[in-house]
Amino acid sequence: MGERNQFASKFGTMAAIAGSAVGLGNIWRFPYVAGNNGGAAFLIIYAVICVLISMPVMLSEFVIGRKGQSNTYRSFIKSSGKKGWGIVGAVEIFAGLAILAFYCVVAGWSLEYIFAAVTGEFASFSGGDTAEIINERIAAMGQRFDLFVGQGGTHILSIPRPIVWTIVFLALNCIVLAFGVSKGIERCSKFMIPALFLLLLVLVIMSVRLDGFAAGASFLLKPNWSAVTPQTIMFALGQSFFSLSLGMSAMTTYGSYIQKDQSLVSVAFIVVIATILMAVLAGLAIFPSTFTYGVEVTSGPGLVFKTLPALFASLPGGPWVGIVVSSVFFILLFFAAVTSSFSLLEAGTAYVTEEWHIARKTLSRPVALTILFVLVGTLSVFCALSQMEGTSLIVMGESLFDFIDKLTSNIILPLGGIAACILVGQLMSKDVVFNELTSNGQFNAKLVRFFYWMARYVCPIVIFYMFIKGLE
Ligand code: PHE
Repeated sequence: MGERNQFASKFGTMAAIAGSAVGLGNIWRFPYVAGNNGGAAFLIIYAVICVLISMPVMLSEFVIGRKGQSNTYRSFIKSSGKKGWGIVGAVEIFAGLAILAFYCVVAGWSLEYIFAAVTGEFASFSGGDTAEIINERIAAMGQRFDLFVGQGGTHILSIPRPIVWTIVFLALNCIVLAFGVSKGIERCSKFMIPALFLLLLVLVIMSVRLDGFAAGASFLLKPNWSAVTPQTIMFALGQSFFSLSLGMSAMTTYGSYIQKDQSLVSVAFIVVIATILMAVLAGLAIFPSTFTYGVEVTSGPGLVFKTLPALFASLPGGPWVGIVVSSVFFILLFFAAVTSSFSLLEAGTAYVTEEWHIARKTLSRPVALTILFVLVGTLSVFCALSQMEGTSLIVMGESLFDFIDKLTSNIILPLGGIAACILVGQLMSKDVVFNELTSNGQFNAKLVRFFYWMARYVCPIVIFYMFIKGLE
């Protein structure tokens, strides 16, 4: 067997891992949840949770992966010395692929909207920007979205457009991953993550000119401690886990590609900071326009695909402003989504190439990716169909799309995080864990001791408590 895959450079490692973290969760969920839960008060709680609870979990996942030098399933077995732990790894991998199926649908929408934006669909409408006109535009954009998602829009070769885009998005992922970990994932992330950051900055700068900038910024950045409830803390933990891609095989897999002499603590720290920063910038890019036009702030698809296009269409400065801003926004949404989906698909690819055999031979990446393309693609098509009229698929009272979202975020992510902490904090030998976290004594052990202690005693209890509360 040849050399195992690795990230080639330190910067590339950070870009790929930050790419996994920064995703749709940061752009359409964080600003909204933060704004409604005390603004900066939420931000502070979220940041503290990211560092105290999520970072030890992330480090535990890195340790399992880098020590195991294998896919998540095998790394869990190697680290624990027990075959049964492989089940945890396998569940995480399949849950990751299920999230990927649903992620592809939403990312596919971003492709549709890139085309709509570039061709000027969201450019300035004539006829002023009174509240009434703005609301009419939002209603029109809402209808456009519902029609596109619900009935598939116009059909290409009689396949509804959301399905076409979903498959195109998944195929792009497979092509990039076929090039390998460093030549595919790392190379793309090295370009896309800085570009994402710059595009966000462009949007923030454009929104500074708007009348509603101060109001929008203060919605996000002014601390309002009276809005903080026990629920707020749960939201912050859930958001932190999802946005840092924890409990889902992505970080364990990427951990196995980090070079042995790179400090895991600094990678985790930089990724956490980058994730928080991008989420705040996303809020600063989005809220000023909602406040300028006095529209209600929402989150999720409603915000990104209904409200924002209507607001872009109304921006002052002529049609080109609408074209530029909307194109930039949907391109950055695509970059955020695709760098996250790489990590989910890579977790599956590592597993299939290392564990599955045909005629006693391990599979090559292209073969593994073809298998995953068919599996994930099928589930994606069902997810997309589950949103359409007449084909709604209901699982336990929810559409398949919502069911996968809830099952993974509320149940599998926290349990996966707890499992990683127990494995590293309780089952693995302390020396092995410390050697991994300090790269055999190269890096400061003081911080490592702190994170180890948190992973060993505090994180599992806190996460379990929140998990039980979340089920109530
Ligand atoms: N972190 C990604 C986001 O914020 C989602 C994700 C979750 C990606 C789990 C990989 C694994 O959108």
